[in-house]
Amino acid sequence: TSRVKPDPPHIKNLSFHNDDLYVQWENPQNFISRCLFYEVEVNNSQTETHNVFYVQEAKCENPEFERNVENTSCFMVPGVLPDTLNTVRIRVKTNKLCYEDDKLWSNWSQEMSIHHHHHHHH
Ligand SMILES: *[C@@H]1O[C@H](CO)[C@@H](O)[C@H](O)[C@H]1NC(C)=O
Ligand SMILES: *[C@@H]1O[C@H](CO)[C@@H](O)[C@H](O)[C@H]1NC(C)=O
Ligand SMILES: *[C@@H]1O[C@H](CO)[C@@H](O)[C@H](O)[C@H]1NC(C)=O
Repeated sequence: TSRVKPDPPHIKNLSFHNDDLYVQWENPQNFISRCLFYEVEVNNSQTETHNVFYVQEAKCENPEFERNVENTSCFMVPGVLPDTLNTVRIRVKTNKLCYEDDKLWSNWSQEMSIHHHHHHHH
């Protein structure tokens, strides 16, 4: 079969719940969530770290995200440092569950950034 390079995903929303960063994105058209494999890159301004997560099942446990629209995926990055700017981008490729070919990454999505503010308790 021919090689499949999906279109890039599209990041819809970044949000914090406590120190956990929730990333929600839309998959390329004509691909269902379980047929894709995801690379989620998160850069943190303070540590200048470059974290890469490889994700097979892009689903968030948080019930707030359960009414996920079809073809929307979600990933949670735990324990993000407060008072930092976090920049995220995602790319996808097909996986072996649905395709013979699992080699070609899509282009990267757009980048999206969010500040994680420290919550002061009084
Ligand atoms: C992927 O990126 C390349 C280089 O920027 C561009 O020429 C190409 O059109 C992009 N393809 C898609 C599907 O976005
Ligand atoms: C992003 O998600 C949060 C948490 O679910 C929600 O409160 C917020 O309205 C969303 N923002 C956008 C632009 O959808
Ligand atoms: C993260 O940092 C790496 C290395 O500096 C850079 O190549 C990449 O474009 C950055 N990604 C984002 C989402 O800012």
